[in-house]
Amino acid sequence: MSNLSAVLHLLGILGLTYRAFGSEPDVPLPIACLTRGADIPESRQVVLCPPNCTQWRVSVFGSGVYAAVSSVCAAAVHRGVIQSSGGPVEVHRLQGRLNYLSSYSHGVQSQALARWTSSFTVAGAVYVPQELSSKITSTALPAAEPEKKPLKKPVKKIPSGGNRDCQMEIAVLLDSSQNIGKRRFTLQKNFLSKLAVMLRVGPDGPHLGVVQTSDIPRTEFFLTNYTQPKELVSAIKQINYHGGNTNTGKAIMHTVESFFSAEAGLRRGHPRVIMVLVDGWPSDDLGEAATLARESGINVFLVSVARPAPEELAMVPDKDFAKKAVCKDNGFFTLSMPSWFTTTKHVKPLSQRLCSAEQLLCSKTCYNSVNLGFLIDGSSSVGDGNFRLVLDFLSSIAGSFDISDVGTRIGAVQFTYDQRLEFGLYDYKDKEAAIRALQSVPYMSGGTATGDAITYTVQNLFLPRRAGPGRNFLIVVTDGQSYDDVRGPALAAQKEGITVFSVGVAWAPVDDLRAMASEPKESHAFFSREFTGLQQFTQPLVRSICQDFTNAN
Ligand SMILES: *[C@@H]1O[C@H](CO)[C@@H](O)[C@H](O)[C@H]1NC(C)=O
Ligand SMILES: *[C@@H]1O[C@H](CO)[C@@H](O)[C@H](O)[C@H]1NC(C)=O
Repeated sequence: MSNLSAVLHLLGILGLTYRAFGSEPDVPLPIACLTRGADIPESRQVVLCPPNCTQWRVSVFGSGVYAAVSSVCAAAVHRGVIQSSGGPVEVHRLQGRLNYLSSYSHGVQSQALARWTSSFTVAGAVYVPQELSSKITSTALPAAEPEKKPLKKPVKKIPSGGNRDCQMEIAVLLDSSQNIGKRRFTLQKNFLSKLAVMLRVGPDGPHLGVVQTSDIPRTEFFLTNYTQPKELVSAIKQINYHGGNTNTGKAIMHTVESFFSAEAGLRRGHPRVIMVLVDGWPSDDLGEAATLARESGINVFLVSVARPAPEELAMVPDKDFAKKAVCKDNGFFTLSMPSWFTTTKHVKPLSQRLCSAEQLLCSKTCYNSVNLGFLIDGSSSVGDGNFRLVLDFLSSIAGSFDISDVGTRIGAVQFTYDQRLEFGLYDYKDKEAAIRALQSVPYMSGGTATGDAITYTVQNLFLPRRAGPGRNFLIVVTDGQSYDDVRGPALAAQKEGITVFSVGVAWAPVDDLRAMASEPKESHAFFSREFTGLQQFTQPLVRSICQDFTNAN
């Protein structure tokens, strides 16, 4: 037997074994690293995992049986079914259960989860590449099985409900300014129609709505008004040209504030995208609106057409508008087309980018991706009433975040000379329970050793399950002078990737507060004479956390 026929023979055997098990040969459904068990449509499905999934920010919950919120491919690596090079995996859907266990296996750390509504398991699968499979059926299979159907099948079933691998919520901002003119406005609409078809918009696929940018932004239609390509294309055709300025900043602001809402059909948890089309350059400033979009977890793409020529640059109010607008200035979120007459070749690459969930970095926000540790001074000088005010202050910080199993987590330590872990980052799975726990922390009363308390918190709250850079925040609230050194322990915490905020009241020395706080001190150290003044720091502190998160991610 030649080497090739030996391989074919082997594949034939494996194929047969596999077919004996399933009813039909499976052509694997290609999925992405972030595809979760819950995204797999069938109760039994062979999928094809890409390589290097564990290098993405993927989450796995459970061991052997995984919560459906887990990444399928990362779970398969954890289980040892595939290696980091990817490959085929058979996924079985199971019911939800309690107590998914955490474990470290094959280089993947899985997390524990108290309960989830559905689960899955993974098993090895055999992938017969198409070119080989036709050879197998024609040459290598024994003639005794003439009824065997050829293995050929389209690689991916085309679902009627749209592209399931691209369930994005997309707002398109059409440029309707005076200088674009009616003709090019029509070309712009044609481009958008082609894009909508290429994206395979559908009830179970991407949803797309349109906002027109002129002097005043105008929502033409929302995400769920047209979920069939035909209807959508005809709705796009009917959009009227308005003219005026290109107030792109205003339009982005309008879209962030009023377009993406549950009332307007937003699907919870789906990545949100604003695709901004700009002819030439915008008339207004984009900075503030773009920051708001990023902080709200929205991925802004900028498609700029007929960018300003060198001799026009003098007229452009903000030359960095493209950089400022996008989710991240890494080239992925910007696309430049020389003219409205040559847009066709950009349709496909753009649709691929809009569908790359892994690359939509802004879907992860400071609100849903951080660990917050509260270090609470329980010394005698605070007093019972003021201790309540501290807890109220921390609760209002916590209230600003999306606390959940897969979102932001909070934990708390109280200290005097002693330290007490009140609750850990993994103790509460929802916001109400976490805030209730915070509100019911019993006041200790005693001395003040802030330095030791910081060290304790790093070791006992953060280090066991440290999140990535820019995601760990320690908020120290104290009302007085510490009896030990605070600077050393605070610097050690910062070295571990924990950003330290200090909030001082009454007798807390400002020098200590600044010594503890991360840089820049102005946005990480706060002081109030009165406990009643704490609430005013909630917003600046949350903002500062978001800035740190954005800078690091
Ligand atoms: C996967 O990662 C390895 C090591 O980092 C790299 O050499 C390889 O090119 C990656 N493969 C793909 C397809 O990204
Ligand atoms: C479009 O969707 C919005 C929000 O869901 C709804 O209020 C409005 O009535 C819809 N318009 C049309 C024409 O269907």
